[in-house]
Amino acid sequence: MTKIPTHVAIILDGNGRWAKAKGLPRTAGHVQGAKNVEKMCEVAYHKGIQYLTLYAFSTENWKRPQDEVSAIMQLLRNYMASCLKLAKKNNMSVRVLGDMTRLDKDLQERIAELERVTKDYTGLHLQIALNYGSRDEITRAVKKLGTEIEEGRLNPEDITEDCISKALDTFEIPDPDLMIRTSGEQRLSNYLLWQLAYAELYFTPVPWPDFDEAELDKALEAYQNRDRRYGLVKEE
Ligand code: IPE
Ligand code: IPE
Ligand code: MG
Repeated sequence: MTKIPTHVAIILDGNGRWAKAKGLPRTAGHVQGAKNVEKMCEVAYHKGIQYLTLYAFSTENWKRPQDEVSAIMQLLRNYMASCLKLAKKNNMSVRVLGDMTRLDKDLQERIAELERVTKDYTGLHLQIALNYGSRDEITRAVKKLGTEIEEGRLNPEDITEDCISKALDTFEIPDPDLMIRTSGEQRLSNYLLWQLAYAELYFTPVPWPDFDEAELDKALEAYQNRDRRYGLVKEE
C-alpha cells in the first residue's frame, strides 16, 4: 500500500452487541475485545502505522452498571500485565491518556510501570485512552496553563495552539490522520476533539471483536482514496 497513515485512532465499539448477538454476557464481549487489541497492535505495526490510539474507557463509561465497570477494570488490570510482555517482545512503547487519579491505586501502579519500562522503545507507539474524555483533557490542560500564568511563568499573550497541544495528554504525539469507529455509530463520543481537527473519519458496522486485518485493510484503502486538503485548493 502506498499512503499509510502515521497515526490511527480507533473507537473500539460494539463489544456488548457482539456478545449479545451470540447469547453471551456483555463482559464476554469485553474479553474478546481485549484479545483483539493485542492482535491488532501487531497487525497495525506490520502495516507501517507508527502511532495507534485506542479508546478503552471513557469518562462517561462510569455510568454503566457497577458489575460491568468492575469487569472492565479487572480486564484492564490483566491487560496491563500482558501488554508489558507484548511491548517487550515487539519493542512497543505504551502511554495511557486520561485522568489516572480516579483509577484504583494498583492499576495506576501497573500503568506507571508499563509506561516507564517501555518509554524508549522505538516500535509501535500505543496510546490507550482510559478514563479519557476530550472535554476533561482540555479542562485539565486549561488548569495547567492557568497555574503557569498565576505563577508568572506564562504570559496570556504568548498562548499559541502549540502551547495548548503541549498541555494535552497527547503532547509530542502527532495528530491522528485516520479515525476509525467500529460497530455502526457515527459520533466521536468525546474522543480527541482537538486532535482530530483534520483527521479522515471512517465508520464500519463491524463490531470491534470482529475487526481484523482484512477490515483494517478496507479502512486503509478508504483512507488512500481520500483527498486531504487542509484548507488548500484541490490539486489537479
Ligand atoms: C466498547 O464496547 C467498549 C467500551 C465502551 C468499554 P461497548 O461496551 O460500548 O459495546 P456496545 O456499544 O454496547 O455494543
Ligand atoms: C465510546 O463508546 C467509548 C469507548 C469506546 C471506550 P461508547 O459505547 O461508550 O459511546 P456511546 O455511549 O455509544 O456514545
Ligand atoms: Mg458502545
